[in-house]
Amino acid sequence: MGDPGHRPHVLLMSEITADGRLTLKRGASSKILMKYMSHETEVLLHRTRAACDAIMVGANTIRIDNSFLTVRLVEGKSPLRVVPSSLADIPDDANVLGPAAPTLIAVSSRAPTERVAALRARGVSVVPCGEDRINLVSLMETLWNDFSVRRMMVEGGPTLNWHMLHHRLVDEIRLIHLPFIVGGDDTPSLVGGMHIDREEDMIRLTLKAHYLCGTNLVTEYDVIYPRE
Ligand SMILES: NC(=O)c1ccc[n+]([C@@H]2O[C@H](COP(=O)([O-])OP(=O)(O)OC[C@H]3O[C@@H](n4cnc5c(N)ncnc54)[C@H](OP(=O)(O)O)[C@@H]3O)[C@@H](O)[C@H]2O)c1
Repeated sequence: MGDPGHRPHVLLMSEITADGRLTLKRGASSKILMKYMSHETEVLLHRTRAACDAIMVGANTIRIDNSFLTVRLVEGKSPLRVVPSSLADIPDDANVLGPAAPTLIAVSSRAPTERVAALRARGVSVVPCGEDRINLVSLMETLWNDFSVRRMMVEGGPTLNWHMLHHRLVDEIRLIHLPFIVGGDDTPSLVGGMHIDREEDMIRLTLKAHYLCGTNLVTEYDVIYPRE
């Protein structure tokens, strides 16, 4: 029996343009923008990964960016790679299914058993968690209890960022600012899905650090949720 209510400390980290976008347009890989990060900032990203027990991205980011999510530019262990995927439909050739680091795919009860079996055959931990979509609150508890995850990093995309914030599961945000404007009404921004009616519902951030890393401005915030 684990500890109910315990969850990892969560840092959301993202590259972001001056107009708050995460990529060039809907469906485009963020790797295009990441090319413009300075080497020092890439090192910061990898150092941050190495300091975490787990790293989570949404299933669409895996489909679009085909991320590795490993530590490559610094010494250190790659964290457990965590992907919520309701139907377990992670492409067979996804880099995240490779042997470079352990991987956990959280699936809903809608996931076809043959897909779950195929993922397990690849050596991936498949964790049933939720009816329709992934129940992120319960996933966080499972990560704490069964996988000893104490510190986790979230690297997007906007849909996952929104759901994590909506459930008050993000403690800190670290942004790598890229000096570009890309525009576009439906271009993915840092947080999708959020529509609030009242200013009391805004999620507030306390700026705790800002510095240049190579040529990139980096800002760090604590997250302050509205009163319930
Ligand atoms: N600049 C950056 O730092 C950065 C970082 C990451 C991503 N990106 C960009 O973001 C874009 C993708 O973002 P996205 O918003 O489309 O997708 P996403 O946040 O990467 O993934 C969302 C998907 O995760 C799955 N999911 C299952 N349960 C969920 C839950 N409870 N909450 C949230 N997601 C859940 C759903 O797919 P299923 O229905 O299949 O379960 C959902 O559609 C790409 O263009 C990528 O390049 C940018």
